[in-house]
Amino acid sequence: MTAQERIEQLRNELHRHNHNYYVLNQPEISDKAFDDLMSELIALEEANPDLKDEASPTMRVGSDISKDFVQVGHKYPMLSLGNTYSEGEVNDFYDRTGKALNEPFDICCELKYDGTSISLTYEHGRLVRAVTRGDGEKGDDVTTNVKTIRSIPLVLQGDTYPDLFEIRGEILMPWTVFDELNKEREAREEPLFANPRNAAAGTLKLQNSSVVASRKLDAYLYYLLGDNLPYDGHFENLQEAAKWGFKISDATRKANNLEEVFQFINFWDTERKNLPVATDGIVLKVNSIRQQRHLGFTAKSPRWAIAYKFQAEQAVTRLNTVSYQVGRTGAITPVANLDPVQLSGTIVKRASLHNADIIESLDLHIGDMVNVEKGGEIIPKITGVDLSARSFMQQEKVRFITNCPECGTKLIRFEGEAAYYCPNESSCPPQIKGRIEHFISRRAMNIDGLGPETVDMFFQQGLIKDAADLYKLTIDDIKGLERMGQKSAENIIKGIAESKNVPFERVLFALGIRFVGETVAKKLAKAMQNIDALEQADLNKLVEVDEIGVKIAQSIINYFADESNRGLVERLKNAGIQLAIAEQPDTVTSDKLAGKSIVISGVFAHHSRDEYKAMIEQNGGKNVGSISAKTSFILAGDNMGPAKLEKAHKLGVAILTEDEFLNLIS
Ligand code: IVH
Repeated sequence: MTAQERIEQLRNELHRHNHNYYVLNQPEISDKAFDDLMSELIALEEANPDLKDEASPTMRVGSDISKDFVQVGHKYPMLSLGNTYSEGEVNDFYDRTGKALNEPFDICCELKYDGTSISLTYEHGRLVRAVTRGDGEKGDDVTTNVKTIRSIPLVLQGDTYPDLFEIRGEILMPWTVFDELNKEREAREEPLFANPRNAAAGTLKLQNSSVVASRKLDAYLYYLLGDNLPYDGHFENLQEAAKWGFKISDATRKANNLEEVFQFINFWDTERKNLPVATDGIVLKVNSIRQQRHLGFTAKSPRWAIAYKFQAEQAVTRLNTVSYQVGRTGAITPVANLDPVQLSGTIVKRASLHNADIIESLDLHIGDMVNVEKGGEIIPKITGVDLSARSFMQQEKVRFITNCPECGTKLIRFEGEAAYYCPNESSCPPQIKGRIEHFISRRAMNIDGLGPETVDMFFQQGLIKDAADLYKLTIDDIKGLERMGQKSAENIIKGIAESKNVPFERVLFALGIRFVGETVAKKLAKAMQNIDALEQADLNKLVEVDEIGVKIAQSIINYFADESNRGLVERLKNAGIQLAIAEQPDTVTSDKLAGKSIVISGVFAHHSRDEYKAMIEQNGGKNVGSISAKTSFILAGDNMGPAKLEKAHKLGVAILTEDEFLNLIS
């Protein structure tokens, strides 16, 4: 047998064993035997790199190469479902559908899996792309990460699948994996995931796919899209897809009357608690695709389907105390401390009370028996009080504090806002620390090696009082502090120094001006170009900027009216932080594309469209919008439209791939 033949044999066998184990839950061979086959394949592929295959089972182990995700447009938008919460609403949906169709119809009843949705594209039976929902129109290409999910087939079985189709479903983190992961994170003092949905979504966006592989995600598929699906029935197509190797829920049923629909709902309302993954309701879909087409879509969701959401689980327990936390903006969050109680599989000791109005409207008293509810978050909320359980002798009413629990300053409330604030921005410790933590965070200055605990320690030691102080730190200042050796100290100082290259828009976000999030910071940076212009801008000038309203503008003015903020900015400037937009190198760097008219089309892997446009211009070329006989060539990414392709062929215009283009100008 040649190496190539053995490789193919191993790949087929491993695909089959994967399916047996992860989809059918019926392994035929031991883990050890599986690992041995895998090791043999890895070794053979390493020895024969020319036989590499993107769909090989070895691709599932992931790699530690980081790359930012490329955005890909969805061929069919990814919509959401209309939600219903009562039997009455399900009735209405059924009646409405019957009237609109005016003929008999079946309903496919499915579980509503509570994970993160994914769209998979298969071409000639091979997984070619996996894209997140994103904004519904376009999402992130997470193919490398998705390949690590063993229950998603890389290569399909049988021969009844269409040449090209999409299949959508939900990526899930099983409860056991979720609990384990949070336990590990707790031990490492890392923030916990609120629920398996967030954990699955967070995992899918990790840059390092070998970590994704270790997180043991699972996936159920529930929606096929394509021109040549085998049947008109959605249920029948799903059963067929199971034969191709997809994990289709065993729970899925076809109902031909409303009674059967309610039987399904009632059964799963309790039975879902025994499932290994989270579900938050039922999905009802008109089964015939022809009928689905007839019913069509509203702007947001299909008319042929609805979700029925399960009631959140509740428990009753005693309220012992209320404590108050101070955030980085000075906002005070009240937290209820409860008698521990079991709720949806975890023990609950604390619940969020949101704000003073909620406490008031519940008329909370210490010692009250309260209803707690988990709405898919780890921190549950209090939804009611059992007044009949309140005794006469009882108990003081919960009164919102009037002074900051950390620094004693009298709290204030801004007009039209629910939250109370501690106004002592300059010396209330959690506010100072919170601002520095925000400054160093990943989406802001992204300073390597620094985290909340280290910031806390530097603050306690009197080494830093604001973000600018970070840039004065030396290795000698910090080495020798708790758990801080020479190497860690060097790393931190290096990370701080490197943050001087972070672009202006992120610095602006890092300052933590109220209401200036990432998007607003981008808009402001572009419009104002530098911090001095922003500082001097008046209200009129600020509201001229796209998406900046009076509330944001006023907050910016307030920020710069404060002398200590101006001082901070000045010291950041002196430290060499980027407080202006970097000069765009818009000068022509070569004439390799001189005289050429170039059309850009499709979706790209290495650079954004804007970057390609800039490259064309920097090399003396011209980017034009539509194809004509004068077009020199088309720079084509994936998914170039068929109409464009045909036109290019007709006019004999050359098509260059990304790599060919990059070679041309390199
Ligand atoms: S069908 C056009 N079926 O719920 C609608 N969705 O609010 C296509 N979901 O984004 C979705 N289980 O992430 C469908 N059996 C199921 C589902 C399901 C969970 C999620 C999905 C979707 C959201 C809709």
